[in-house]
Amino acid sequence: MHYAVACDHGGLPLKAVLVAELEAQGHQVTDFGTNTPDSVDYPDYAIRVAREVEAGRADMGLLLCGTGLGMALAANRAAAVRAVTVSESFSARMAREHNNANILCLGARVVGSGVAVEILRIWLSSEFQGGRHQRRVDKIMEAADR
Ligand code: RB5
Repeated sequence: MHYAVACDHGGLPLKAVLVAELEAQGHQVTDFGTNTPDSVDYPDYAIRVAREVEAGRADMGLLLCGTGLGMALAANRAAAVRAVTVSESFSARMAREHNNANILCLGARVVGSGVAVEILRIWLSSEFQGGRHQRRVDKIMEAADR
């Protein structure tokens, strides 16, 4: 899969290890920054990645900030995006199996690199189950403002 990845200064400490994990598992990564500790505005990065997913230029997104919260809020403004903030492994699996989430958001001030890699591995190994979950996801997508 092709992953669009970005972070703000708060998420930067997690980016290298998670990009390495994606690449180790055979995924293609496009990095949309930021790449310095200088303070930046997370919506600029979230919306860039969300547009990549929405346009089909990326299959999935990975967004990192201090909490993972602002990135998800901003990314979900794109109609085709289902971005979730995850801090533990059960939600990582459910986000894929039930919600068919397409952007994973993590907070570098919330989880350390070990937990973040574990979450990403579970996200990558989990698949959408469809069925009744498809109907529910469809209702989410139909509710989006156009
Ligand atoms: C930046 O200080 C911080 O607000 C940002 O990384 C993120 O946590 C926002 O949700």
